[in-house]
Amino acid sequence: MIFISVNTPTKLTGVGAGKASDLKWVEASARQVASYSKGHTIVVEKSTLPVRTAEVIKSILKSVSELTPEEESNKTFDVLSNPEFLAEGSAVNDLLYPDRVLIGGESKSAISQLSQIYENWVPREKILETNIWSSELAKLTANAFLAQRISSINSIGAICEATGADVREVARAIGTDSRIGSKFLNSGPGFGGSCFKKDILNLVYLSEHFGLPEVANFWEEVVKLNDWHQRRIPRLIAKKLFGTLSGKKIGILGFAFKANTNDTRESAAIQICKDLIEEGANLLIHDPKVSTIQICKDLKCDPLNIEKEKLNSNEFVHGSWKPVNNKYDVFNNSDAVLLLTEWEEYKKIKWDLAFQKLRKPAWVFDSRSILDSEEVNKAGINFWRFGNGLN
Ligand code: UGA
Repeated sequence: MIFISVNTPTKLTGVGAGKASDLKWVEASARQVASYSKGHTIVVEKSTLPVRTAEVIKSILKSVSELTPEEESNKTFDVLSNPEFLAEGSAVNDLLYPDRVLIGGESKSAISQLSQIYENWVPREKILETNIWSSELAKLTANAFLAQRISSINSIGAICEATGADVREVARAIGTDSRIGSKFLNSGPGFGGSCFKKDILNLVYLSEHFGLPEVANFWEEVVKLNDWHQRRIPRLIAKKLFGTLSGKKIGILGFAFKANTNDTRESAAIQICKDLIEEGANLLIHDPKVSTIQICKDLKCDPLNIEKEKLNSNEFVHGSWKPVNNKYDVFNNSDAVLLLTEWEEYKKIKWDLAFQKLRKPAWVFDSRSILDSEEVNKAGINFWRFGNGLN
C-alpha cells in the first residue's frame, strides 16, 4: 500500500492559474509507483486533490505499467482516496481521535485493507466508505464549509459594529442551536493557513470547469469577503488614530495564521501589516514562534538588509517595521497595539506596564477577542474589539 502525500499548490501560471491545483508532484509520484511496484499495489491519495484526480493516477499507473516487459508485468493497482482532516497545532490529537476517517474507492477488498489499519485505534463506525469522487469532493467541501463559517461570522461582526450588537453574543446565541453548533464561530482577522483559500479556489475552478458559474461565484464570495475583512482593519485603526498612520508606531502581537504554529502561509497578518506600512506606520512585530526571516519573506523585504546590531537598537530598519523578541517591546512609545494571533501568553500581559510604555492617547485593538476589555480600560488604555458595536 502506497500513500501519496505530496504538495498540491495552486497553479501560478498557465490554464487555471490562481485557482487550479498544480498536480505535477502527484503525477511524478504516480509514475514512480508505476515503475517500481510489483504485484498488486493499493495507491492511496492522501493529498488534497481536485475531484477526479484518481482518474489521472489510474491512467498513469495503467500506461506506465503497460510499458513493462511482459515477463515482469504482473502489476495491478487499486486507487483509494483517503483525505486528511488534521489541523495544524492539534494534528496528533486529530489523528488519534478523528471525527471520522473517509475512504473512497471501488474495490471492496482495497477499502477493507486500508480500513483495517485505522481500526487499530479508530472505532469502526467512524470509518466512512464512499465512492472515490465523493471522498475527493468531501475534503474540499469540509474546508469550504469551515472557511464559509468564518466569513459568515466576520460579516456579521461588521453589522454588529454598525448596529451596537456584539458578535460574541450573537455567536453564542446561534451556536447553542444544535443545528448550527458552536465551533468555528470565533470572529478574527480573517482565515489564513495553506488550505482554506487554496481549496475554495479549487472548488471555484471546478465549478467553472463544469459550467456552474453561480456555484463558482457563491464560493468565491467567501474568499472575497475574507480579503475585504482583512483590509478593513488598517482603515479602522487609522480612523481611531485621528485619520492618519503616517509616522505612527504600531505594535503587532502575533504574525502566525493562528496560535500554536509558526506557519504564516496566508496569515491575515501579512496583508494587514503591508497595508499599515503602506499607510506610513512603523511596526514593531512580535510572535513567539515565527522567525524574523519568515516575516521578511512575507513582507517582501530583503532579509540580507537586517543587521543584527540594528535589530537590537531602537532605530527602525527598513523604515517601516522591526521585529521584537520581548512582547512588552511592542508597546515602546507606540500609539496602538494590534493583536492578530490568539497566543495564550498575550492573555497574561500586564496592562499597567503596557500603559507606561505607550504614547497617549493609547489604543489596543483586539482582533481575536481574547483580551479582558475591563483590565485594559482600567489601565487607562482605549480598547477596541472586533464586532463590538459598543466600542
Ligand atoms: C484546516 C482544517 O481545520 C483541517 O480540518 C484540514 O485538515 C486542514 O485545514 C487542511 O486541509 O490541511 P488548519 O489550516 O490547520 O486546518 O487551521 P484551522 O484551525 O482550521 O484554522 C484556519 C483559519 O481559520 C485560521 O486562520 C484560524 O485562525 C481561523 N479561524 C478558525 C477563525 O478565524 N475562527 C474560528 O472560529 C476558527
